[in-house]
Amino acid sequence: MDFNSCTTSRVSNILFLFLLLLLCCSPLLVQSRIRHYKFNVVMKNYTRLCSTKPIVSVNGKYPGPTVYAREGDTVLIKVANHVGYNLSIHWHGIRQIRTGWADGPAYITQCPIPPGQSYVYNFTVSGQRGTLFWHAHILWLRATVHGALVVLPKLGVPYPFPKPHHERVLILGEWWKSDTEAVINEALKSGLAPNVSDAHTINGHPGPSPACPSSSSSGYTLSVAPGKSYLLRVINAALNEELFFKIAGHKLTVVEVDATYVKPFKTDTIVIAPGQTTTAVLTADKRAGKYMVAASPFMDTPVVAVDNVTATAMLRYTGTLSSARTTFTWAPPRNATPIANAFTAALRSLNSEEYPARVPRTVDHSLFFTIGLGVNPCPTCKAGNGSRVVADINNVTFVMPTFALLQAHYFKVKGVFTTDFPANPPAPFNYTDSAAVAAMNPGTSKGTRLYRLAYNARVQLVLQDTGLIAPENHPVHLHGFNFFVVGRGVGNFNPKKDPKSFNLVDPVERNTVGVPSGGWVAIRFQADNPGVWFMHCHLEIHTTWGLKMAFLVENGKGPNESLLPPPKDLPKC
Ligand code: C2O
Repeated sequence: MDFNSCTTSRVSNILFLFLLLLLCCSPLLVQSRIRHYKFNVVMKNYTRLCSTKPIVSVNGKYPGPTVYAREGDTVLIKVANHVGYNLSIHWHGIRQIRTGWADGPAYITQCPIPPGQSYVYNFTVSGQRGTLFWHAHILWLRATVHGALVVLPKLGVPYPFPKPHHERVLILGEWWKSDTEAVINEALKSGLAPNVSDAHTINGHPGPSPACPSSSSSGYTLSVAPGKSYLLRVINAALNEELFFKIAGHKLTVVEVDATYVKPFKTDTIVIAPGQTTTAVLTADKRAGKYMVAASPFMDTPVVAVDNVTATAMLRYTGTLSSARTTFTWAPPRNATPIANAFTAALRSLNSEEYPARVPRTVDHSLFFTIGLGVNPCPTCKAGNGSRVVADINNVTFVMPTFALLQAHYFKVKGVFTTDFPANPPAPFNYTDSAAVAAMNPGTSKGTRLYRLAYNARVQLVLQDTGLIAPENHPVHLHGFNFFVVGRGVGNFNPKKDPKSFNLVDPVERNTVGVPSGGWVAIRFQADNPGVWFMHCHLEIHTTWGLKMAFLVENGKGPNESLLPPPKDLPKC
């Protein structure tokens, strides 16, 4: 509001009108704000596990700064690229309604920001609240370029659970002693899997580690006061590993995942895949003491190598003597599938009057996508014996374009993509039977193929893991939408029998879902957001190998149903 306008002779009249306006509109004025952030992407030397290396960072921090907004706010983040890599940043889980230009995946919704240039991500948060995160969406830069994105409820709107006294962000990550770009480039040259990380991290710290016995760092400390409650915003920002998270001697009450409220339930272990977020209430119900916090890998495919080092942090009650001994907790074994299943099965949408689960009852598109690995010839891959591991959806290994798909769509640039992505696998087979799978040709086809949806189309998508090479858990992330996880099972999806047991009442709503090893999940969503929306496995190595595709959602006919025009500073390819 501009106070300088009151300079005419009829000052009092204007003042009166102004006050009236202020009175009427004040609830609106305080309700939504514009939040400005500045992200300077710079190289920074970081020491972890007895080694120092330069990392790509936002504002010199690892993890990067937390972005706070309230539901309804507009967020403007100026990202200035001061490093030698092309760059883009994704606001993971933000729906970006009509603002796909601000979504961030490089070559999908934008050309990357070249070194020396900047781009302002401009979006409004609507219809969602909770814990999300942001991360680089190009190369493997996400390893160190990530941070929390916290969407608070609108001013005056309470949480649907007792308000905890305090809030804390806990970001889980993976740390390589060497440069992560070198790690993936090496792997791509060989055709084989990349080296696993050297440590997991909790808020940037691995804790005392066998990889660095001399390290004096006890890791991250979560300080708590006896009797107080804490809202823990847990984020898995790791590149390639699903994680178990637990705190010795304490139970956690899960209240929200992927920025949607769930029916609260108590657990001693959280299971969280890359791309997922879990918000839980911790009650500091002890009088004093130190309690171990642990993050360890979940991987139930024996042949897949994992970084088996547990990251540890410490929950410390204020006033506890430093000589006090720490209460220890075991990490679950890496193949603790029952623990993972129990956690997943407990997740249900809150489905209250304020927060109803709007599950599509009928569907316009019934899609069946197989997801998994494959092998293609690679004459230069010596270590891979002339072949390379790839990944695919419905046998299509997605080829990244060199021009952004959203621009190509908006400006009608021909030749960048096709819209013939198959709704079903080209040749059905017994996806999870090991003998049938062993007899399969593991080769894949290549293409930049999209699946076209009309505005508001209702979609059911069954994601079926294949046992090709090895069955594996795949955390599949969809940009631009939340979806409901209506069904889940082991083995092959049965289109006759399985839909009968779908939960269309209170299924969990999220943006990233774990497809179980050798099993399937069924999701439903409504395509109420025009644009080009990436879908991929959030294990970075699987994305790199081609486990990705995109949906093209057409504009609707109504006044607010079209993709907005691109911003002036949108980077060029
Ligand atoms: Cu969090 Cu496309 O990713």
